[in-house]
Amino acid sequence: MSIRINPSILAADFVNIESALSSISSADLVHVDVMDNHFVPNLTFGPQMVERIQQVSPVPLDVHLMIDDPERWAPGYAELGAYSVTFHAEATDSPVAVARRLRDIGARAGIAVKPGTAIEPYLDILDEFDLVLVMTVEPGFGGQKFMPETMPKLRMLSEAAGRVGSDIWLQVDGGISEDTIGIAAEAGADTFVAGSSVFAADNPGLQIDLLRRAASA
Ligand code: DX5
Ligand code: ZN
Repeated sequence: MSIRINPSILAADFVNIESALSSISSADLVHVDVMDNHFVPNLTFGPQMVERIQQVSPVPLDVHLMIDDPERWAPGYAELGAYSVTFHAEATDSPVAVARRLRDIGARAGIAVKPGTAIEPYLDILDEFDLVLVMTVEPGFGGQKFMPETMPKLRMLSEAAGRVGSDIWLQVDGGISEDTIGIAAEAGADTFVAGSSVFAADNPGLQIDLLRRAASA
């Protein structure tokens, strides 16, 4: 099974984003957290900034939209060339329509669920998505504690994905460190977002290697 490590630039120095990005060139994708201060009580940046980040990033972008109204906003991130675009299940009544639109534009289509959101309604429509993000903290802020109680959702997803032979990525986001990544990997995750554990390290590149090793152990 291939493992992906996607550092979250939420934990990077926003004023020196280009050097932060060059320190993580061994990452698979760069995780970019878009927040609108409505869906979550925090605000980051929008399409213009993401487009610029993409221009200077050594690796493709994994965009995580913590915003209302993904019907309106998500396609723009696919159009600017993001590799994957993930929107929240709680933010839309038409997740399949949003995902189809993202795929039509050429992005991997991801759906995210908060810790309190059930995964069962999505198990039968997994083929509509290329990625499912199980949030392992409440979305909105970096540096929070990993919630192991979200792991049963990954087990259900990995079983359902195995049944249909889907190549869907199972992603976790929040509190991922060398201590927790193995728990998520064991439960079935293959794609790991890590913010503070990567950018707080003296050598972010080395930290990515250590996480990769801990996930495969
Ligand atoms: C939280 C964001 C995360 C955040 C993770 O809402 O979606 O991507 O950056 O940060 P850490 O790894 O510090 O928990
Ligand atoms: Zn995120």
